[in-house]
Amino acid sequence: MEQQATAERPLADGRAVTSSAGGRLRSREDEPPVRVAAAGDVHCRVDHRDAIVASFAALRDQADLLLLAGDLTTTGEPEEGAVLAEACRDLGMPVFAVLGNHDWHANRRDELVEAIEVGGDVVVLDRAHRTCETTGVEVGVVGVKGFVGGFPGSHLPDFGEPLLREVYAETSRDVEALERGLREIALCPVRIVLLHYAPTDATLAGEAPGIQAFLGTDRLAAPIAEHEPTLVLHGHAHAGTFAAQIGTVPVRNVSIHVLGRDFHVFELPDHAAAAIH
Ligand SMILES: [Fe+2]
Ligand SMILES: [Fe+2]
Repeated sequence: MEQQATAERPLADGRAVTSSAGGRLRSREDEPPVRVAAAGDVHCRVDHRDAIVASFAALRDQADLLLLAGDLTTTGEPEEGAVLAEACRDLGMPVFAVLGNHDWHANRRDELVEAIEVGGDVVVLDRAHRTCETTGVEVGVVGVKGFVGGFPGSHLPDFGEPLLREVYAETSRDVEALERGLREIALCPVRIVLLHYAPTDATLAGEAPGIQAFLGTDRLAAPIAEHEPTLVLHGHAHAGTFAAQIGTVPVRNVSIHVLGRDFHVFELPDHAAAAIH
């Protein structure tokens, strides 16, 4: 957590800033962009408190919204969540987060979420969505952790032992929540999907091929392809690749291990003229 945030404008493919989704969205270049800071795999620990608080404090005034793509903590202990809450206190921008697999390790999910959300500075989105208005633009965020499941050639089947089929069903619940959330925020000019697990194997390039089924699944891609949000963010794949697309939708792996810095700041357009999705 040494380097400061840097801004990218436009997105690598230019689509989210200046062009349209299927010709249906128009940016208003006279409006200020929404600065969305993002990071995944922050892995807060009690003995790193000072560095983490300093890192987040440096983001003040640099963004309008902060999104955290899971693995907020190292082992999911509430004390680690309290470090994140402290780092986000009075940051001056809404903070939305999803949990990651590390955040489940201690199996103290409810206590952890309570510790993170204490004070009201951070909202954990767990198969949920929220909207906020920033720089005059309504931004909708759907937050789903996602889960394992694999990609073409490595798909986990919905077959066999009940335990294996329950893993498949858990991912199905995330896919359904993602679909539901995207429908709920359909009217927001800026719509962002926040995940921990990857919805495409294109951002896994660099990871060992044998573990791809554990890093995400393209089952999460179907609602994204259908609803065409402005931006999709995920983490989890520490050795993966930053940029990919699902159709025309930009997907970014914002794991800090991929970024090589503490945060990435996206500048998104005011899609005030967006059509209904
Ligand atoms: Fe991680
Ligand atoms: Fe992870």
